[in-house]
Amino acid sequence: MTPQPRTRTQLPKRTVSIIGTGSYLPERVLTNAELEKMVETSDDWITSRTGIRERRIAAEGEFTSDLAAKAAQSAIENAGITAEEIDLIIIATITPDHFMPSTACIVQTKIGAKRAVCFDISAACSGFLYAVEIAQQFITSHTYNTILVVGADKLSSIVNWKDRNTCVLFGDGAGAAILRHRAHGHGVIATRMGSNGQLAELLQVPGGGCACPITAENAGERLNTIRMEGRETFKHAVTNMVESARQVLDDAGLTPADLACVIPHQANLRIISAVAERLEVPLERIMVNLDRFGNTSAAAVAIALDEANRTGRMKVGDYVLLVVFGGGMTWASSVIQW
Ligand SMILES: CC(C)(COP(=O)(O)OP(=O)(O)OC[C@H]1O[C@@H](n2cnc3c(N)ncnc32)[C@H](O)[C@@H]1OP(=O)(O)O)[C@@H](O)C(=O)NCCC(=O)NCCS
Repeated sequence: MTPQPRTRTQLPKRTVSIIGTGSYLPERVLTNAELEKMVETSDDWITSRTGIRERRIAAEGEFTSDLAAKAAQSAIENAGITAEEIDLIIIATITPDHFMPSTACIVQTKIGAKRAVCFDISAACSGFLYAVEIAQQFITSHTYNTILVVGADKLSSIVNWKDRNTCVLFGDGAGAAILRHRAHGHGVIATRMGSNGQLAELLQVPGGGCACPITAENAGERLNTIRMEGRETFKHAVTNMVESARQVLDDAGLTPADLACVIPHQANLRIISAVAERLEVPLERIMVNLDRFGNTSAAAVAIALDEANRTGRMKVGDYVLLVVFGGGMTWASSVIQW
């Protein structure tokens, strides 16, 4: 009998490994002391309520695609591949350079990834893990082999610098990872994602889209900047991060005690501490860099992952939990064996 060709669905599932990471933070440092001169706040309030001491702000002519391209180049070098090997570029961002073209297409040109298919996704601070899960699906289904995933945001472009409730929290940056199947290698073990659009108004940028365009009449209302109900957002962040972390650990057949490192979204040290306490993971096993970079949205967990990689926080074979929460509302957790 003539053998039938194997269709993609019949091919064995493949493990997806992170084979390289990278990040980029703009040079300009904005300290809490400088914010004291801009709005009615204090270093003491910001540090004690959030844990943030300083954040990075992109230069005027430096866009999300520039941050993303630099993080991508550093991940490409770390992975030891060339840009031509990349099959797909996924950029998670809520601050694209333009509505069209996608920031991924702009990054493709900047890094010379001529063969890549490119698109952006929007899941706010959860975007990087959403993008990793999309990449995982493409690799396990044998559609693509080598995928660049970037979380990048220039939040300074959508912050209302007169609103002390929000302007002290955010910063600019980008983090990147190269994903590829590695035979018999370690990789992403399980991922859980969640969304609740009923809570959308707790954290939003109300204007600038087609539902509420910026016009000469409403320009003064700064509708194209971030609005947030901080206290409510805080509660949902803790609840959903803990629940999705527990679910994904269960999926992976692991307990918090098995984790060598937890890399959470970097929004507020009190959120991170509450999550750590409920999961019963000691703080020394939690990656924290928000004191230096603030909340960089989709970039935050990716920058922390790169820092954990480059500083040797994760050894080969270690179990690592990544857990994020953001506008939408959206959340996600992944367990990776490094
Ligand atoms: C925003 C956040 C830091 C505020 O901390 P909080 O302890 O909840 O503070 P509250 O919002 O209850 O405000 C307490 C007081 O501080 C004031 N305040 C707010 N921002 C301030 C600032 N930068 N400096 C000084 N005072 C400030 C408020 O006006 C309020 O004053 P009032 O009691 O007189 O009304 C916190 O709620 C938070 O981190 N929320 C979640 C953020 C988040 O995760 N966002 C992104 C998800 S990706």
